[in-house]
Amino acid sequence: MESLEGKRIVVTGTARGIGAAVLHAFVRAGARVAGIDRDVERGEAVALAASERGPGAAWFHAADVGDRTAVEAAFAAADGVLGGLDALVHAAGIERRCAAERISDAEWDEMLAVNARGTMLTNQAAFARLRDVGGSIVNFGSDSGLVPHLNGAHYSAAKAAVMAWTRTVAHEWGRYGIRVNSVLPAVHTPMYDEYLGRLPDDELVQHREKMRLRIPLGGRLGDAQRDLAPVLAFLVSDASRFITGQLIPVDGGKVSVR
Ligand SMILES: NC(=O)c1ccc[n+]([C@@H]2O[C@H](COP(=O)([O-])OP(=O)(O)OC[C@H]3O[C@@H](n4cnc5c(N)ncnc54)[C@H](O)[C@@H]3O)[C@@H](O)[C@H]2O)c1
Repeated sequence: MESLEGKRIVVTGTARGIGAAVLHAFVRAGARVAGIDRDVERGEAVALAASERGPGAAWFHAADVGDRTAVEAAFAAADGVLGGLDALVHAAGIERRCAAERISDAEWDEMLAVNARGTMLTNQAAFARLRDVGGSIVNFGSDSGLVPHLNGAHYSAAKAAVMAWTRTVAHEWGRYGIRVNSVLPAVHTPMYDEYLGRLPDDELVQHREKMRLRIPLGGRLGDAQRDLAPVLAFLVSDASRFITGQLIPVDGGKVSVR
């Protein structure tokens, strides 16, 4: 994995799943990381555990990423401990299951507030700190925004918004030396376990068979530490300095994008 010695990075969604795995991996690679999540207890525990192992360090700041005031306060607190910013990895997000015809206004608004507005707010907060120095932003799209995701039309719509936002701001912010990319992961996390837990038995069997056939590398979802964190380290490092505006699947070959 790339060395991240001296890098100052904000990672969101660090209480569990991808965000937690990435925070641990980045601290192991020497970075100073400010984690943001709305789950205070777990968020603080993850940051403490990572800091104890080093060689980098981690801090935690609580915020709902869909709330502008909270996001600005968390980034301001991150400034205090990091003393500047080199990159943002915005992994916080939610996934819900609901037939399209039954999605309520409240469910739609929650999905868009966290996944789409959260991307705008965290990216804007990062932009304010990167515009004079350049840097890297990584958002989390999903193949659900490219191909049908049955009983998740609101999730599909929100993730398509994240990917469209990423492509456009990469062009608007390139002049400031800010790179913006989206990864489309397929890795085993608590979100995936919850998704599996909501499937009826027959759909669960079908799902496992579909993964077996669709993922040429191993037939199932990958591991966040081993399979995804090194790609994110590359994307926040100077090694990827000529890559921006891309949708990058890290999914064992499940989807292909152009
Ligand atoms: N796991 C996958 O294979 C997969 C596939 C496609 C996309 N993604 C995307 O990757 C990202 C991370 O997913 P994951 O699997 O680690 O999910 P996860 O549910 O395991 O973890 C998500 C984290 O985000 C936090 N969070 C949720 N809403 C928040 C809010 N409003 N404010 C602050 N924090 C909030 C949660 O507390 C949690 O710690 C998400 O954006 C998800 O949509 C994941």
